[in-house]
Amino acid sequence: MCADCHSDGLVRNYSAEKNSFASHFDNISVSCISCHGDMPLHQQGDTHQGNQPANKRNDMLDVISTDHPTGRWLRNIDEKTAHWQGEARNNAFMDNCFACHSLRSPLTDGIKANTPFLDQFSPSLLAAPMYYADGQIKEEVYVYGSFLQSKMYAAGVNCLDCHDKHTMKLKIEGNGLCLQCHGAEVYSVKSHH
Ligand code: HEC
Ligand code: HEC
Ligand code: HEC
Ligand code: HEC
Ligand code: HEC
Repeated sequence: MCADCHSDGLVRNYSAEKNSFASHFDNISVSCISCHGDMPLHQQGDTHQGNQPANKRNDMLDVISTDHPTGRWLRNIDEKTAHWQGEARNNAFMDNCFACHSLRSPLTDGIKANTPFLDQFSPSLLAAPMYYADGQIKEEVYVYGSFLQSKMYAAGVNCLDCHDKHTMKLKIEGNGLCLQCHGAEVYSVKSHH
């Protein structure tokens, strides 16, 4: 049960006949293939990708979020909060994150990167005692359930707006993280605090 999220390449090999497991895994802990999959394009050895613009390189294509649209979080002069302007965002890569950052039951054996979350897992509903009545995280439910019902998710905010894609550290310490999109003159003032 634990190895599902705390290793990669896990295969349980459950035999219903013998009611036993013959599990194996590739690595303890999260590794490259947990998010990038087996990188089929990478293996084809495209030696030209170093010359490609960042959004055309193979390593990017291996993560579902292949599209780097020409859009930005911009705040119009009369807005309190930015909204995404430009080409629509493809946030499907978050399905990779949700595989582990959700309270769910597996439907398949192991985790396959770059495969829709709902084809592999059945997520728990936002019910007591694990969640607060308004859907906020209460017990150890990770991120998915509550995040999905937030206005920020609905508006297209993704994990990488706040977390670095590899270190997972916050991109900005303190209020600045939120002020990337929320206007300081409205939210970073005493009346709001
Ligand atoms: C659904 C995926 C999932 C499963 C299953 C899971 N974990 Fe975790 N675990 C995580 C995530 C994600 C974190 C990161 C912290 C968080 O989100 O709270 C974590 C954090 C931890 C930590 C803290 C690590 C640290 O460095 O602080 C420990 C210890 C841990 N898990 C042990 C276990 C054990 C033991 C089991 C089995 C009983 C288990 N986990 C099952 C996803 C999972
Ligand atoms: C927790 C998930 C996760 C893990 C684990 C992970 N990556 Fe990534 N990686 C990402 C995401 C997300 C991106 C950004 C993809 C995008 O922008 O389309 C990325 C981008 C990249 C890129 C493109 C260049 C760049 O920096 O944007 C390379 C190369 C890369 N990863 C290599 C690796 C290697 C090698 C490992 C293992 C040591 C690894 N990644 C582990 C999620 C992960
Ligand atoms: C294979 C399972 C798995 C996948 C896929 C995965 N994570 Fe995690 N993540 C974990 C576990 C386990 C931990 C806890 C690691 C530890 O503390 O040792 C963790 C920790 C984190 C943390 C906390 C880091 C810290 O400094 O405390 C963040 C943030 C995070 N993950 C975001 C993401 C994002 C964003 C993605 C998708 C791009 C992702 N994760 C994909 C399993 C996963
Ligand atoms: C709007 C900004 C924002 C977004 C979007 C966001 N996070 Fe976070 N995340 C934070 C902040 C702030 C913390 C707290 C960090 C701290 O306390 O040091 C955090 C902490 C975490 C932790 C560590 C929890 C712990 O117990 O240590 C995990 C895991 C995590 N985020 C995963 C994710 C995942 C997965 C996504 C996308 C589904 C995501 N986050 C999206 C801001 C964000
Ligand atoms: C990448 C842009 C972005 C960042 C960064 C961001 N937000 Fe948001 N936030 C939004 C958008 C867009 C909305 C939706 C506004 C709306 O629908 O009216 C929103 C809505 C909210 C809401 C209302 C949520 C609800 O479901 O009712 C709160 C509270 C909030 N943000 C707090 C924060 C905090 C705290 C941080 C920093 C940890 C943060 N935001 C960072 C873009 C962002």
